[in-house]
Amino acid sequence: MSSEKNSALHSVAVRVDKVTKTFPNGDTPTYALREASFEALAGQLTMIVGPSGCGKTTLLSVICGTMQTDSGRIEVFGQDIGCMSDAEVTAFRSRNVGFIFQQFNLIPTLTLVENASVPLILQGWPYRKAEEKAASVLENLGLGKRLRSFPKQLSGGQQQRVAIARALVHDPRLIICDEPTASLDAKTGHHALELLKQSACRQDRCVIVVTHDSRIFSFADWIAEMEDGRVVKSCPAAEYRHA
Ligand SMILES: Nc1ncnc2c1ncn2[C@@H]1O[C@H](COP(=O)(O)OP(=O)(O)OP(=O)(O)O)[C@@H](O)[C@H]1O
Ligand SMILES: [Mg+2]
Repeated sequence: MSSEKNSALHSVAVRVDKVTKTFPNGDTPTYALREASFEALAGQLTMIVGPSGCGKTTLLSVICGTMQTDSGRIEVFGQDIGCMSDAEVTAFRSRNVGFIFQQFNLIPTLTLVENASVPLILQGWPYRKAEEKAASVLENLGLGKRLRSFPKQLSGGQQQRVAIARALVHDPRLIICDEPTASLDAKTGHHALELLKQSACRQDRCVIVVTHDSRIFSFADWIAEMEDGRVVKSCPAAEYRHA
């Protein structure tokens, strides 16, 4: 990692050091990550780009502790995820991490406002207060008239906005987004990135966005490029655009 990056005002929020992750596949395992190393700074929005199958979703999953690694070390805000018990990782995640999954992962039996309230309920907020807060975030994302709808009654783009609301509602220190604009039109995608950027630009916050969407590259502070299970390039966004 470049010394310019480490000497900047921003501290390292997420550090992935030589992480390998394989999946069983007959005689030869599939290597999703091959000693991948990656850093994301606090106060920045870091984008991860790379071709389909290169390991982007796997990298996000190991960072948030939903997937175990074969080897290597992962630190999030100075805490070694690998040293935590399952219960500790779950508690750490519910306090500190918001996700936007590639497949949205909304709960089909809950309304939009209930879905977006889940992170607050897990933190012990009373239902009514949690729903008021979730409703205000959904309104900001243009879904104020659909609060009591269920996910299956929505378009893909509307479901994606609920997933964004759920990731933002508890103002987590780390927000991890897997293709957050894949189902959004340009204007809505732009607004979603504005909200993520607002979250990222505080010193104790960090946003990591996996994307193929070049329309949103301008929101990145830093870009990491993956290829075949490794991060092969990592630089300030302005340098990446001019490379
Ligand atoms: N649960 C799994 N079981 C087996 N193989 C998996 C599993 N998850 C991912 N892989 C494999 O690991 C590799 C990396 O997958 P990953 O989902 O991280 O790619 P990606 O970069 O996110 O791709 P995309 O841009 O298409 O979402 C791929 O070869 C994939 O087939
Ligand atoms: Mg993926």
